Amino acid sequence: MSDIHIPNTLEEKGYLDIPVDPTLDLFAEIEKLKKEKNAIVLAHYYQEPDIQDVADYIGDSLGLAQKAQSTEADMIVFAGVHFMAETAKILNPSKKVVLPDLKAGCSLSDSAPPALFKAFKDKHPDHVVVTYINCSAEIKALSDYICTSSNAQKIVESIPEETPIIFAPDKNLGAYLNKKTGRNMLLWNGACMVHEIFSVEKLKQLKLRHPEAKVIAHPECEEPVLALADFIGSTTGLLKFTQTDSAESFIVVTETGILHQMEKASPHKTFIPAPPDNACACNECPYMKLNTLEKLYLCMKYGQPEIIMPESLRLRAKLPIDRMLEISARYGL
Ligand code: 13P
Ligand code: SF4
Repeated sequence: MSDIHIPNTLEEKGYLDIPVDPTLDLFAEIEKLKKEKNAIVLAHYYQEPDIQDVADYIGDSLGLAQKAQSTEADMIVFAGVHFMAETAKILNPSKKVVLPDLKAGCSLSDSAPPALFKAFKDKHPDHVVVTYINCSAEIKALSDYICTSSNAQKIVESIPEETPIIFAPDKNLGAYLNKKTGRNMLLWNGACMVHEIFSVEKLKQLKLRHPEAKVIAHPECEEPVLALADFIGSTTGLLKFTQTDSAESFIVVTETGILHQMEKASPHKTFIPAPPDNACACNECPYMKLNTLEKLYLCMKYGQPEIIMPESLRLRAKLPIDRMLEISARYGL
């Protein structure tokens, strides 16, 4: 998450002390607020089902960034995590961007503190820096290209083969890309706490119990897990695969929030969440799940907490995002 302290959380403003009337129909109230404020609700697939159901658009990180870029709404209500809302603000300086819970961070983003990353980058001045969108605005400002899981391969392949590359912050996605592209990118040692928790042993047992099921996995997973997958892709990629593939059942190796859209799109198919390494619900992202329908309603009502950043930082962070969007458009992504 960004280092900049923004003293405007719902807690700091005291809004959370005002209990939301339990008889309120939050779905109807949110629809009313959308019209009143000309607001759009953008949600990631890992949000709780109620939030997905009130969203105007649900997508992966690339889709959400593209929607944030093209919307004509005055207020973007970002039901996702901080780096996603920050990306929306970088693309829309004149729009109000609110996040239901400002503490909705990301372990991957936290794994790249800007000062350490700058020192690492300075040690390799000949390297081009490709950074996964799951990072702070400060890290984006230190990058040459941003990528997401759905365009990372194309972004890396757009850089001349002889150019050395630093890839950050996800070492698992980086290793996967090295394998796919034959590059030898220098990898920052970061990872997603949710995608690292899946158990290879339990996944093998699950495959034995469901031999007909296809295993689909997100590239933030570790290599031994990816080696068991029939299909690897971004959240949108995984969802589309379940819609178009002939298999009737799928073992889903990513955050469980995505199952809501999979089940909605293919109600006759079976979706089995891959098990984490222990008995916890660690295949749920604790950051994504900080957002609730109540907080979404409150942040729309009060227009807080809002994403704010210095203009100089925004401009530096925008450059590599623009490059990503331009390359993605070139390939119809
Ligand atoms: P995508 O939805 O872009 O695949 O990213 C997954 C993720 O972990 C977002 O935090
Ligand atoms: Fe970050 Fe992982 Fe949560 Fe995505 S699922 S927001 S990468 S911690």
